[in-house]
Amino acid sequence: MTAKRIVILISGRGSNMEALLDARLPAAIAAVISNRPDAAGLDIARRHGVPSSVVDHRQFAGRPEFDSALAAAVDRHAPHLVLLAGFMRVLTQAFVERYSRRMLNIHPSLLPAFPGLHTHARAVAAGVRIHGCTVHFVTPTVDHGPIVAQAAVAVQPTDTEEALAERVLALEHRIYPEAARWFCEDRMTFASEGPVLIDGVSSSLAPLVSPALDR
Ligand code: GRF
Repeated sequence: MTAKRIVILISGRGSNMEALLDARLPAAIAAVISNRPDAAGLDIARRHGVPSSVVDHRQFAGRPEFDSALAAAVDRHAPHLVLLAGFMRVLTQAFVERYSRRMLNIHPSLLPAFPGLHTHARAVAAGVRIHGCTVHFVTPTVDHGPIVAQAAVAVQPTDTEEALAERVLALEHRIYPEAARWFCEDRMTFASEGPVLIDGVSSSLAPLVSPALDR
């Protein structure tokens, strides 16, 4: 097993990034790259002694130009795995295909429900009884792609967007490092369709996929 190099892309707070840094993955976190110079996660990366840099999307004429510069910054570290951790830019098909099968994202809903933004508010408004988060491989369709892990929470009738977001975030911090670990340990394989296999078994059967409902 080759020791993996990981690059983490962020845009803001960086709590998932911190969970990944704290997880002591069997890998080197080579760099954290933000598209926003004011991302709070950059300070966290510095505190952890992880090299960080900024590729500011506002400095580029359009998405293709930004994505080329971002790819150059990522490739400098020759990563085996790219982790999107609250990275809030839609990526071009060219960028996504460059990191095909080696780029994961964490999304705050049980995909394919609620792709896109404001997932917790939409879950509350829709009256769903179960909500959660998903780790998936990134494909050109936003918030799509083979599912690696999911975790669920029960939605309470009194839940606000904020309360739900807090409980889901706690699960994000558990399943994202776990999924990254599976990748680093070469335990993932792709089925022709459906979820990724972990240790040769559908990831929907993997241990952390559905932690006990939290209430
Ligand atoms: C998380 O909820 C993540 O699922 C979503 O954006 C948020 C980022 O939070 N993609 P953080 O920056 O990791 O704290």
